[in-house]
Amino acid sequence: MQKTILIQLLLLSFATLCYSLPLSTSSRWIVDGLTGARVKLICANWPGHPEPMLAEGLNKRPVGEIVRHTALMGFNCVRLTYATHMFTRYAHLTVTQNFRRLGLQDEIEGISHNNPEFLNMTVVEAQTAVIEALGQYGVMVVLDNQVSHPMWCCSDDDGNGFFGDKYFDPQEWLKGLHIVANRYKDTSMVVAMSLRNELRGPLQNETVWRWYMSKGAETIHKANPNSLVLVSGLTYDIDFTFLKKKPLKLNIKNKIVYEFHRYSFSEGQGPIWLNQSLTKACDSVMQETQNKVGFLGEGENAAPLFITEFGINQMGTDRADNLFLACYVSFLAEKDLDWTIWALQGSYYLRDGLHNPDPSSMGPTYFIMYHPWSGNCMHVDKHSKVHPSDCWSYSKWSHAGNGNPIRLIGTELCLSAAGDGIPVTLSNNCTGSRSKWQSVSNSKFRLANKDEDGTYLCLDWDPDYSSRILTNKCKCLEHDCHPHSQWFKLISANVE
Ligand SMILES: *[C@@H]1O[C@H](CO)[C@@H](O)[C@H](O)[C@H]1NC(C)=O
Ligand SMILES: *[C@@H]1O[C@H](CO)[C@@H](O)[C@H](O)[C@H]1NC(C)=O
Ligand SMILES: *[C@@H]1O[C@H](CO)[C@@H](O)[C@H](O)[C@H]1NC(C)=O
Ligand SMILES: *[C@@H]1O[C@H](CO)[C@@H](O)[C@H](O)[C@H]1NC(C)=O
Repeated sequence: MQKTILIQLLLLSFATLCYSLPLSTSSRWIVDGLTGARVKLICANWPGHPEPMLAEGLNKRPVGEIVRHTALMGFNCVRLTYATHMFTRYAHLTVTQNFRRLGLQDEIEGISHNNPEFLNMTVVEAQTAVIEALGQYGVMVVLDNQVSHPMWCCSDDDGNGFFGDKYFDPQEWLKGLHIVANRYKDTSMVVAMSLRNELRGPLQNETVWRWYMSKGAETIHKANPNSLVLVSGLTYDIDFTFLKKKPLKLNIKNKIVYEFHRYSFSEGQGPIWLNQSLTKACDSVMQETQNKVGFLGEGENAAPLFITEFGINQMGTDRADNLFLACYVSFLAEKDLDWTIWALQGSYYLRDGLHNPDPSSMGPTYFIMYHPWSGNCMHVDKHSKVHPSDCWSYSKWSHAGNGNPIRLIGTELCLSAAGDGIPVTLSNNCTGSRSKWQSVSNSKFRLANKDEDGTYLCLDWDPDYSSRILTNKCKCLEHDCHPHSQWFKLISANVE
């Protein structure tokens, strides 16, 4: 309990000490407007745009608990989605009235149990209450205009895809942006607003896009000059190629950010994850992303690139998604981009890893030792040597928490540090200090052994000889650098 409180305090002080708001941009970086220091957004998506017009899950858990958990997982921001019509047509509806209208009686009971104070709020007040709860935990908010008509998103013909579609009246959209920007102009934790999620469909048109991106950006900026403004591309936010020849010129300094989306199935590419090696599939997706949007961060018009949606379809069911995530997460790290995982549900999955425990599987729990950068899982060969391998095969480990040995399940062996710069071995001496491992650094993405003179030796992927795992002195434990090669994570799993 005490530890939890301590972490909370740390998080809160982290939020207040590390940067000040509002945010701004400088070349390809999102920065603290005051000091110019980089502020990296690591966000989880939280949907509030479907018919209920309420952040999802409030019927299941108290808002404070959801928010606290989000912060404890290491997210410093949430992308909260909303529908334009919530502000322009339904602002007077209370949560109860709206849920009743939709016949969601069980959910009303869930809310009255977990978050009773929300029942009599209007849907708009409820959004504000969620934002305030996030603010209390130092979690920044990106408000995303996901749709006009409240509904799950997105398809070509859902009427929300492009200016002029059935539900997508441009004037009403501008009015909505104005209301939202104005409502939160004094709420510093609302650091960014998107113009519109995933423009798409038969009406999409570059000239029209340029016109409304500029109108929308002006509208937000006028009402709330502090907010960053996120610009989405065409074709489900994967196409910006038309800006190569002719950049978007807006009269707004240091506030414009481009957002980009990428899923395993984007452009029908799902199969590449299954019919090629991970390395090959991953290389081609990285290359593609780089070709498509790399140029946005370069040259005199350079602006930050924020990957505001990537992730998975469902939890833990799709191998292609697992491989895609393994690849994309390392890509985001390598390019050091700001990102939002889709969705909050997906983010548990990301943090818990590749093969999170499947509630429908009754198998015993074990750990997979995962190396996100290379997308490899650790595998012990028949000579008892530890190698990185693609995650089609992996060894199963047990670990009873910090300071305990990491044991190879089904054997008497455990992982043992042999010294600085030396390959890690398997030993049957599991009681000695060489066999004690703990997670180190903020991200908990590193596994370290403390040697006799108190130096931390981290598991390290040897890039010169990539089939070896060494123990090397842990790099930059104090500050935030990107020691990709030392990123290892024990991922709990129970699938056979
Ligand atoms: C909501 O309002 C109704 C009607 O005014 C009232 O009876 C009820 O107690 C209120 N509920 C809460 C949780 O405030
Ligand atoms: C795009 O819209 C502009 C302005 O309405 C129009 O002149 C142009 O023909 C459209 N382009 C296409 C390809 O439809
Ligand atoms: C894998 O599937 C993709 C998409 O269907 C296809 O374009 C590609 O040629 C396939 N690659 C191989 C090696 O079969
Ligand atoms: C196990 O290793 C430790 C050093 O880490 C050593 O002190 C101890 O004697 C070893 N035990 C056995 C049984 O070899």
